[in-house]
Amino acid sequence: MNHPCYICGLGSFIPSRVMTNHDLEKLVETSDEWISTRTGIKERHILDDGVNPSDCGLEAARAALAEAGVAPEEVTHIFVATCTPDYLCPSTACVIAGKLGLSSLEGRKGDVMCLDFNAACTGFVYGLELARSIVQMHEDAVVLLVATEGLSRRTNFTDRTTCVLFGDAAGAVVLRSSDRNALWQVRDVVCSSDGSLHDLIKIGGGSACNIKEGDTVGPDWFISMQGMAVFKHAVRSMADESQRILERNGMSFEDLDLFIPHQANLRIIKAVGERLGLDESHVFSNVQHYGNTSAATLPVAMEDARRTGALKPGMKVLLTSFGGGMTWGSALLV
Ligand code: UT7
Repeated sequence: MNHPCYICGLGSFIPSRVMTNHDLEKLVETSDEWISTRTGIKERHILDDGVNPSDCGLEAARAALAEAGVAPEEVTHIFVATCTPDYLCPSTACVIAGKLGLSSLEGRKGDVMCLDFNAACTGFVYGLELARSIVQMHEDAVVLLVATEGLSRRTNFTDRTTCVLFGDAAGAVVLRSSDRNALWQVRDVVCSSDGSLHDLIKIGGGSACNIKEGDTVGPDWFISMQGMAVFKHAVRSMADESQRILERNGMSFEDLDLFIPHQANLRIIKAVGERLGLDESHVFSNVQHYGNTSAATLPVAMEDARRTGALKPGMKVLLTSFGGGMTWGSALLV
């Protein structure tokens, strides 16, 4: 039997340290005017030394659990969407589980499955599909889905084509089959990819980056991106995927209360909205304040939209995202 899947808690965490466009003017040959016009971004938040993506994810997770009225001990699965994990091993999910005091060994009735996955900026949408599949299969599952990124740790602050774009943040949701404290039901999710385009966005530091002790890191340690090519794919893929998910649910854009696209660039957000014929008032954006926080943009945008009153429980919301891989996808919440 397919059990329904509800989001019953939502939280986000933004590091307090702010880096403005004017701060970046002191690091590279750029200007507030260029960054604002080409991207819409005015500022981004950056992790302090000693604070890692797991710490931000933990704070977002605690907020989501508190809203859901779920104790950490009740969580059965922790899924972490990130392309900037604390470590290659252990998983950030295990680090967060440890910080939440969860252990499958003693004092628990059930087990906890901990898993990181990397779908870059599409991580939250992919994660909703993973969580939904688990909840549909296991009636008692309580899934904590965390999206957390420390992109500043892989940003080359001498490369003006990328360093103005990214920021750090985390978001989290709690999903289960019970509608107690339900905010939205995950009605449907679609996920896609095109691995032939895997070179368009890269974050180094994995095993392909063959660094020996004593070496200094080179460009392959950092984020690199072919911006214009990514831009075109992003607009087309997010628009097409959004149309596809609505069609297969017998809905149209007029049925939606809010459209929340991935927050990478205000020009992309506007172009997707225009392509779909959406009124600007129905398209949410907060990229101005955070830059592109990869997997974290969607849950952070949901939380901000809720804070401003643009998003309320039970509203019909379409999320869509696009990122490295290339990956893209959309999720319909009702
Ligand atoms: O989250 C994953 C998905 N990622 C995205 O969606 C990002 C998609 N791409 C973009 O958002 C845009 O392509 C960028 C914001 C990255 C770049 O904007 P663009 O309008 O495509 O600019 P461009 O790369 O074509 O560069 C235009 C000019 C170049 O100078 P020339 O060659 O025309 O003399 C660049 O060197 O702007 C220059 N430039 C800059 N100038 C000042 C590039 N970066 C900067 C900068 N400040 N930071």
